Amino acid sequence: MKLRTILISFTSCSLLLSGCSSIPNPFSKDDQTEEQPSDQLSEVNKDENKEQNQNDQEQNREKDSEKDSDKEKEADKGPDLPAPEETVEVNAEGEKIVTNVMDPLVLVNKERNLPEDFVPETLTIPDIPFAFEGDHPKKQMQQAAADAIEDLFAQAEKDDIPLLAQSGYRSYSTQKVIFASNAESNGQEEANKYSARAGQSEHQTGLTMDVTSPEASFQLIEEFGETTAGKWVKDNAPKYGFIIRYPKGKEEITGYQYEPWHLRYVGKEHATRIHEQNLTLEEYLGAPVEPVNSSE
Ligand code: DAL
Ligand code: ZN
Repeated sequence: MKLRTILISFTSCSLLLSGCSSIPNPFSKDDQTEEQPSDQLSEVNKDENKEQNQNDQEQNREKDSEKDSDKEKEADKGPDLPAPEETVEVNAEGEKIVTNVMDPLVLVNKERNLPEDFVPETLTIPDIPFAFEGDHPKKQMQQAAADAIEDLFAQAEKDDIPLLAQSGYRSYSTQKVIFASNAESNGQEEANKYSARAGQSEHQTGLTMDVTSPEASFQLIEEFGETTAGKWVKDNAPKYGFIIRYPKGKEEITGYQYEPWHLRYVGKEHATRIHEQNLTLEEYLGAPVEPVNSSE
């Protein structure tokens, strides 16, 4: 009788133990380790909790780093840019006329014309040294561009860089006269490599200023790019919101020869991106590059 009771107790104890996951079953074939005393068991629990916490922290860190990388990807995409096809309308003559005329990112080129009657609203003369005396409409720029070029010239002066402004705003009619004169001297095709037709000049936007230096004999010549002032301008203009609009090696895209003197205001953020990525404004905005029609 006594022996049977002992056997029954032994069996239920064994069953009980095998169903309990937190207490090691000393009779389990799988468990070959020594039975641990209860104070050691609580140490095991502590260790398990610690491990769980470490796992949780690890997972949280991974989630945070995923979020950071999403943010970085978002920042890489950059700001929303005006879509080129949405910022033109076609006139009766089949010419593309830009519609975002007061946008600092307005894209004007051989395919995209400014309206004939467009005059920027905020023309003003920046307080900077010019390469000629007296008042002249070509001293003007739009207010935001004028403010920015004043800052750029102030920094140039601090850095002992002699810089002079040569030509800013030009009206549609002034550009027409200039192009006609250049075409008469060199033929239309040749002239259009360095001189824009009326309506196609960025100077009409009021966002542009041609600059020069004594080292370049106050001329607008390619050599300006190799002068101390030209190199300084290339490196520093983006910090003030300007790009070299017609860079070397991108003539097929811009449609114009290299002009290291032609500064175009687009704002600091865009100028920095364009400069860092070595882009033209056409490339930055994703504008289709049409074969340049040079037969006219
Ligand atoms: N020199 C530039 C292309 C202009 O005439 O506007
Ligand atoms: Zn220019």
